[in-house]
Amino acid sequence: MNFNDELKARTVHVNTVIKDYLPKEEGELSTIVSAVNYSMESGGKRLRPLMMECTFQMYGGKGTQIAPFMAAMEMVHNSSLIHDDLPALDNDSMRRGRKTTHREFGEPLAILAGDVLLNYAYETAMLSFDMVKNMPDQAAAWERTARAMSVLSAKSGLTGMLGGQSCDVEHDGHSLTERQLSFIYKTKTAALIEGSLMIGAILAGASEDQILKLEEIGSDIGLAFQIRDDILDVAGSTQETGKPVGSDVRNRKTTYVSMFGIDAARARVEQLSESALQNFDSLGAKHDFLRQLLEELATRRK
Ligand code: IPE
Ligand code: IPE
Ligand code: MG
Ligand code: MG
Ligand code: MG
Repeated sequence: MNFNDELKARTVHVNTVIKDYLPKEEGELSTIVSAVNYSMESGGKRLRPLMMECTFQMYGGKGTQIAPFMAAMEMVHNSSLIHDDLPALDNDSMRRGRKTTHREFGEPLAILAGDVLLNYAYETAMLSFDMVKNMPDQAAAWERTARAMSVLSAKSGLTGMLGGQSCDVEHDGHSLTERQLSFIYKTKTAALIEGSLMIGAILAGASEDQILKLEEIGSDIGLAFQIRDDILDVAGSTQETGKPVGSDVRNRKTTYVSMFGIDAARARVEQLSESALQNFDSLGAKHDFLRQLLEELATRRK
């Protein structure tokens, strides 16, 4: 199968996994649940769960205990997007080619939908413990699940995505040093990518060295991913990204593009991507699809 067909097939599969864990739109909670599912079912590239499943396979993972974590990571990601688009943050009206959650449901429900999703992510990931209950080496499987929970929460929280988002909005309209900017990108964006690569490997029983190397790879890929996002915010098309062009300028954000110009930003993406791929090739285990996915991200158009 060629890369694009495999990407399609894997994305369809990830969508089925996610759907299994979505809350039901019924009873008194049906409105808040529809706000949650409006975001969760609006498409999206599903990169984080895709990556997670790949590293699980790469280290010989067997069983379904990865599934709740795949859904959970996408829930954290969607929670971050709902809040990121709010008037108090980036104030954007379009995401994935349709109205943002607060434009569709109003601000109060969008704030709560983001909160609900972040919490639901942990409720969901926790289901993984039930799945490893009857495994042959239950104690080891239990420990791996606990470690995965801890990575999921740390990469989402103060020293991960949420801390990064906080520093990001704090500095709107201010100039930044390159170190500050790279700190923000490594936390707001790279942290969830690092966590995704790590959790797949952790649940499959990879070694500590391999897990740490995947964290480094995720850091480079994540930084490159955000710089590419900055480039697309200037030079992309809404038709392809499903997002407005010019959001960063409107919010007076310092980005890699505003700091160094678009050519230097492109060169930096290329360099980070090469370094990540070299590191990936030194892992010992192989996964051709994941390697190509990581490579393609450097030139993505959406
Ligand atoms: C958007 O992430 C937010 C950033 C970290 C730049 P994605 O580009 O992965 O968004 P979706 O899920 O595909 O819409
Ligand atoms: C936000 O970066 C990354 C998140 C953690 C949501 P951006 O604000 O640039 O993401 P987009 O461009 O709105 O998707
Ligand atoms: Mg933002
Ligand atoms: Mg934004
Ligand atoms: Mg952006």
